[in-house]
Amino acid sequence: MIILNSDNYIGKGKLRRCYFNEDQCIKIFHEGEDVRVHTIWKEIRELKRMARKKNLNLIIPKYHGTKETNLGEGHVFDLVRDADGTVSPTFKSYITQFPEQVQLLRDKVYASLMRAAPVLYDITLENILLQTNAQAEKHIAVIDGFGEDTFIRINTMVPFLARKKIKRKFKKFDRQLAQFIETR
Ligand SMILES: Nc1ncnc2c1ncn2[C@@H]1O[C@H](COP(=O)(O)OP(=O)(O)OP(=O)(O)O)[C@@H](O)[C@H]1O
Ligand SMILES: [Mg+2]
Repeated sequence: MIILNSDNYIGKGKLRRCYFNEDQCIKIFHEGEDVRVHTIWKEIRELKRMARKKNLNLIIPKYHGTKETNLGEGHVFDLVRDADGTVSPTFKSYITQFPEQVQLLRDKVYASLMRAAPVLYDITLENILLQTNAQAEKHIAVIDGFGEDTFIRINTMVPFLARKKIKRKFKKFDRQLAQFIETR
């Protein structure tokens, strides 16, 4: 069994808390949210589909199944790390540190998503990470918000529609960004 504690804690969203364990990111559903476990299957399906694509300009963590932890069942993903070993920051925490880069990075995220066209339903400042490699280049990682829950997965089948959806869902990202800039 894997033992997780506050030393391994990375962050949380509405559904899950995330911890690191070696090169893995272990996600635990908040109590009472495990009814939403089904959402993870549509997520994993899209992660796998994207993982098969070559020359992807996005980092998309691989899924490694479940493991028992002291906090309950954990879902295991690749951990996104910078070249110096630290866990890559969310878009939000990165621009908090480097606000002058916000417009450039926003445009880079949008262009990368439009190019790779993953099927996403929730694009937020905290579902996108910015990884810095050894050459100090930035790479975009998408760590959450994958999949679609309709029976016929039309966005998955038609990249044009996936892009249209990204365009629509990106409005939330831009709204959050505007709010961030306003309250800074
Ligand atoms: N693979 C990963 N590598 C590094 N950090 C990660 C990874 N996955 C998640 N995180 C961190 O954990 C946080 C919460 O993860 P995640 O977005 O998967 O949770 P969630 O509850 O599904 O979120 P939401 O509220 O968007 O539904 C992220 O914002 C990020 O800081
Ligand atoms: Mg999230």
